[in-house]
Amino acid sequence: MITKKIVFAVFTGWLVVLFVATQQPGHFTVDIPKTWDMQEIIRFHLPPPDSSVTVTYASEEYYNSLPEHVIYKTYPVYVQEQEPEGYLDSIRTLEPEVVFDLSKIKTQEDWIKAGEAVFHWPTSFSPPYQPPTSYIDRKETDVTGAPVTPEGLYPFSHYVVKEKGQIQLGFLSCANCHTRVMEDGSLIVGGQGNPAFDPEFAVFVKLFHVPFATLQKGVHQLTYAPWAPEVSEYAMSMDSADLVDMTIAHPNGTMVRQGISFGPAEDAVAVPSLIGLKDMKYMDKTGLMLHEGPGDLMRYAAFNQGMDMLTRYNDFIPMGVNDYTELPEAAEWDHPFGYDPFRYSDAQLYALTQYIYSLKPPENPNYFDEALLSRGETIFKEQGCITCHTPPLYTNNQLTPALGFEPPKEHFEKYDIFNVSVETDPTLAMKSRRGTGYYKIPSLLGLWYRGPYLHSGNLANLEDLFDPARLQDDYVPTGYKPYMVETMAVKGHEFGMELNEGDKQALVAFLKSL
Ligand code: HEC
Ligand code: HEC
Repeated sequence: MITKKIVFAVFTGWLVVLFVATQQPGHFTVDIPKTWDMQEIIRFHLPPPDSSVTVTYASEEYYNSLPEHVIYKTYPVYVQEQEPEGYLDSIRTLEPEVVFDLSKIKTQEDWIKAGEAVFHWPTSFSPPYQPPTSYIDRKETDVTGAPVTPEGLYPFSHYVVKEKGQIQLGFLSCANCHTRVMEDGSLIVGGQGNPAFDPEFAVFVKLFHVPFATLQKGVHQLTYAPWAPEVSEYAMSMDSADLVDMTIAHPNGTMVRQGISFGPAEDAVAVPSLIGLKDMKYMDKTGLMLHEGPGDLMRYAAFNQGMDMLTRYNDFIPMGVNDYTELPEAAEWDHPFGYDPFRYSDAQLYALTQYIYSLKPPENPNYFDEALLSRGETIFKEQGCITCHTPPLYTNNQLTPALGFEPPKEHFEKYDIFNVSVETDPTLAMKSRRGTGYYKIPSLLGLWYRGPYLHSGNLANLEDLFDPARLQDDYVPTGYKPYMVETMAVKGHEFGMELNEGDKQALVAFLKSL
């Protein structure tokens, strides 16, 4: 009896100790999801619009054979004119400093901070950078239209030191595309990025005389979808100058991302804001990937930072060797954007999710007249916007079929579908590897710090969305308009167009307040 009591006492004592330990402020353990879990990968992808296409993903073995990123400290890049005196030379004296160290992560704040380092970690690097000052100067940013902050910060690239004395210029971090410089010079990290990504690529192609065959191969890898071969054929029919000019046509806030369509009407996709992503059920304009927790965002990052080019669509692997039929040796993949063959560790990706989930919207600097706002809100309700853009998220988190897409019956059980098409251009949804047959209903939160709008960023201003002139063929799109196109209709989403000018003003004011 006594022993039983002692055992019991010891046992409950331990429970108390354990309880106290887990309740220590900030201390807790996390279950890090597994990124490359094939069942989860299959679950979180929506199928292509053509259901006869077979999609297979690179194996776990292949994924694990890729080396992990070692994440070092990154240093800001300035334009030449505003670079502090001796800046690069001072970086050349620094020791390499690893900033992602799992053993040092103890609290939620540590995870977020570590995730910030992952967000800014480039995945492609220049050879060691020798010049005494930045190669980016105002002349170049004037040509490409890349925004720079008043302090001269060029926030899209970063310097790294992996070896003492050797600075490298790094690209293709999440921050490269998901950082926005506002007109007042403020920076929104995680906002709808506005680098001059594609115009800079065009400068690079011209400067380094990238051979036409390399460009063509890249275009084929990026755009070929077995269910819409004509899209890639169209791009392949262009000459070198046309291909380069095609990329210059993309305004900041839009770009080519691997797997998008490259048709005569659409070859750009608007960059999303990642602020508020935590509450969004689908990722990508087409809802290609489900978002049901950090594991899904980890998989999103792994796929989009290299792995999706190794997915097989029938017989076609975008980054495949032997006529696109076989996976390349892990260390030898040749990504048309220049992604190095590395993977993030599960812990790095988990940290990244915690950082992204922690992003807060900036303070809205606009002044609003209360009466105008409440009139705008009433109109928003009366016009039925709230059916799809339902508060508080200003989206019902559903998918709408693209023009011409008939959702298969089983989709209604598997996905959240609002079966009304808004009839915008269906190319991205129907004829690209990012396609699913759907466009998701976007959240309207943060519209004031975003733009251009709609999935391809055709409209620069919210007012344009309600301008009936955009439905006519002689319209000049204010945002993205394809290369060689002078005028074109920006079709679909014909809500709120019949309102009078005063009501439109009130509606737009309301939208800008969200
Ligand atoms: C080269 C530019 C680029 C880089 C680098 C990049 N992204 Fe993106 N990202 C985009 C574009 C463009 C889209 C829109 C794709 C679409 O809708 O089909 C996007 C979409 C997303 C989405 C979907 C969000 C939504 O609301 O639909 C997430 C999440 C995301 N990116 C996270 C990341 C993370 C995390 C990283 C770094 C690991 C990263 N991105 C790196 C350009 C980039
Ligand atoms: C039937 C559902 C539906 C209704 C009703 C609806 N929308 Fe939308 N809305 C969408 C979808 C889907 C998109 C994305 C379309 C695309 O990009 O091709 C969208 C896009 C938008 C965008 C652009 C957002 C961005 O990030 O680019 C704005 C702004 C918008 N809607 C406002 C409104 C307003 C205001 C109303 C009412 C007058 C309204 N919507 C009614 C479904 C709807």
